[in-house]
This record gives sequence, structure tokens and C-alpha cells, in this order.
Amino acid sequence: MDDDVVLSAPLFATMEREETSRLLESMTQIELARGEVLFRENERGDRLYVIAEGKIKLGRRSNDGRENLLSILGPSEMFGELSLFDPGPRTATASAVSDAVVYELGHQQLVSWIELHPGVATHLLHALARRLRRTNETLADLVFSDVPGRVAKALLDLSDRFGETTDEGMRVAHDLTQEELAQLVGASRETVNKALADFAARGWVRREGRAVVLLDLDRLERRAR
Ligand code: CMP
Repeated sequence: MDDDVVLSAPLFATMEREETSRLLESMTQIELARGEVLFRENERGDRLYVIAEGKIKLGRRSNDGRENLLSILGPSEMFGELSLFDPGPRTATASAVSDAVVYELGHQQLVSWIELHPGVATHLLHALARRLRRTNETLADLVFSDVPGRVAKALLDLSDRFGETTDEGMRVAHDLTQEELAQLVGASRETVNKALADFAARGWVRREGRAVVLLDLDRLERRAR
């Protein structure tokens, strides 16, 4: 595993390498298999997690059992901080979309770390602000954009995190099932499937099971606007 990926998380920002390595060593490493749940919505929790490997989905369930995905996070991103900064129930269920490795930090450890390195708080606030910005955008898209526009945006967002440049285009191994992709977009599986099939027919994307190759980024970006 590449420690540098984890150490680029906001939690470790602007610290001496030796100190950050010591903090990392004091954190508990947890391995998750695809589908495994780390914690559930409404449970009490006071730990935050930094992803070292793999992908984690954060989902909420409605009273009638429908699921909505808030986000898919990847290496060096953190989650679980809301219940830690604002003690209360978990606001989402965190589970592994692919095999994953995460590092866990407890409340007291975090408080001591911030007291020792107050600058870290600024980086954590920055990460929170960015998340709120993204959430506001998603909220606006749910109201103002149609499903194909939201699908295009979700693909571009996933490509920022997990995309790999290939000769053909940007390959995004998102590891999501069609159902999960639909939950991320906030639409039915059928509608999302239709939008993807339409993008494929236009030559904008090529579908490959739990991956997609973005062939025409310009068109997708225009569709996402
Ligand atoms: P917590 O509420 O402790 O547990 C669920 C976590 O999901 C939460 O902390 C955040 O880290 C994360 N989370 C909640 N809402 C969002 C969102 N809109 N976008 C990304 N991550 C989120």
C-alpha cells in the first residue's frame, strides 16, 4: 500500500513526515471486502476514516426502503467526520464498493492532534467546505437538471476521482452496479440505463461492465451543464 496516498489527506496536511507517519501508525487499519458495511446510518459514532485503497459509498435509506447514494469516495478522502465534530448519529451508511483499506482515528486522538497542530483545522474546514459546495450543486441538479444531464455529471465526477487516461479516452472503473449508479444519480435504473445507452449510441461513452470509457469529454461536459 502507498502511504503517500493516505498522507495527502487533509488530516495530515503541512506536517512533518515523521510526525504524520507516527499519527498514521497510531491509527487502526481496517480491511473491508466489497459490500461490507463499516457503519450504518443512525448509529452513534465518534471516529473518522481516511481511505487508503478502494472505494467507499455513503448511502441513505428512506422509510420505504429506497436508497440514495450521497457520494462515492476514493483514496485519500475522509468520511465519518460529521458525527465526530457534531456528536450525534451517523448521517449515512458507509460500505465498501470494492475491496478497501481505511484508517480509523478516534475523537480523542483527533482533538490532541489538532491541539498540537492547529493548522490542520484549516485543512479539515477546507475539505468540509468543498463537500458542502458539491452537495449544493447536486441539490441544484436534482431540481434543475434532467436525468441525462445528471448522469453526464456523475460520470465526470467519478472520472475526476477514478479516471485513468487511455489511448481511447478516460477509463472510469467505478465498480458500481447499474442500481448503485442510479442511486447516485437519484433516478430509476431504467432511466439511467436509457441515458447511458443514448450516450453510447452517440459515441460519447463505451460501457464495460462496472467501468465506462468516456470517449467525448467535451460533449459530456456540455450535456452536464
Ligand atoms: P457521519 O455522519 O459521521 O457518517 C456518514 C458520513 O458520510 C458523514 O459523517 C460524512 O463524512 C459523509 N457524508 C455525509 N453527507 C455527505 C455528502 N453530502 N457528501 C459526501 N459525504 C457525505
